[in-house]
Amino acid sequence: MTNRYRDELRVAVRAAETAGKLIKERVNRHKITENKSCASDLVTEVDRQAEDIILQLIKTAFPSHIVMGEEHQSGREWLSCHGDTETWYVDPLDGTTNFVFGLEFCSVSIALAQRGVPVLGVVHDPFRQETYTAVQGEGAMLNGSPITVDRTVGDLGHSLLVTGYPGNIACRPRMHRVNLKRVIDNCNNLRALGSAALELAYVACGRLTGFWEVSLRPWDVAAGAVLVEEAGGKVSDLTGQPLRLGEYVDIAASNGRIHTEFLDCLAWKGEPDGG
Ligand code: IPD
Ligand code: CA
Ligand code: CA
Repeated sequence: MTNRYRDELRVAVRAAETAGKLIKERVNRHKITENKSCASDLVTEVDRQAEDIILQLIKTAFPSHIVMGEEHQSGREWLSCHGDTETWYVDPLDGTTNFVFGLEFCSVSIALAQRGVPVLGVVHDPFRQETYTAVQGEGAMLNGSPITVDRTVGDLGHSLLVTGYPGNIACRPRMHRVNLKRVIDNCNNLRALGSAALELAYVACGRLTGFWEVSLRPWDVAAGAVLVEEAGGKVSDLTGQPLRLGEYVDIAASNGRIHTEFLDCLAWKGEPDGG
């Protein structure tokens, strides 16, 4: 157990694992599925119940903190979350589409940020019983054992990359600014696994070499960003600037060694971040 943020880490792990238990129990059982921003943007009652569990535990332990939960956020909270107050970013079920289809690749993602900088991250995979944790300056762990990115890969050609895309491209047209053919031609191979938080955790523990995605939300990436950095990797926006937890987030994360070549290949053009 670490010294900085020890209480916050304990509560975040308990919240993630409690919510994860619910997700695992309910994956192939009846669930009501609704649409959010568009037909392919799904939400279930399990997303909401998992978030209720997490928010209750965090708000009880840290009543003065702001909590930005994906299913309960409001614009008012959004406006105030970049001040001095500690802000939690909670994605109660990252990978809802996988969950709805019974594809057991989903996670719970919980991060704590200070002045807009994520300082603590927990990503829990309920189907493999894997809990990834990191605190700024103290390294990254998987089930309590230290992890590192895969530093043996030194170029894009030997890299296993991962990305994500919305079901309906009209929801996120900016993703087309990356030339997928060029990426595929220049790496070992490309995956899209469907949980950004868990994909970042996989970069942190060396199962994947690099991840990018555009127009994500801060609760998708805040925890995973701490994991990758603390595991010795590199996290930035697609232009190489430090990650900023705005309303929408473009992110590139890697083992560090490939980062410059990775960004050159993505060749991002346009405004820095956006929805
Ligand atoms: C989604 C996942 C997916 C990513 C989508 C996200 P959700 O989160 O992280 O990997 O490609 O952009 O919206 O909706 O399952 O919490
Ligand atoms: Ca998500
Ligand atoms: Ca979610």
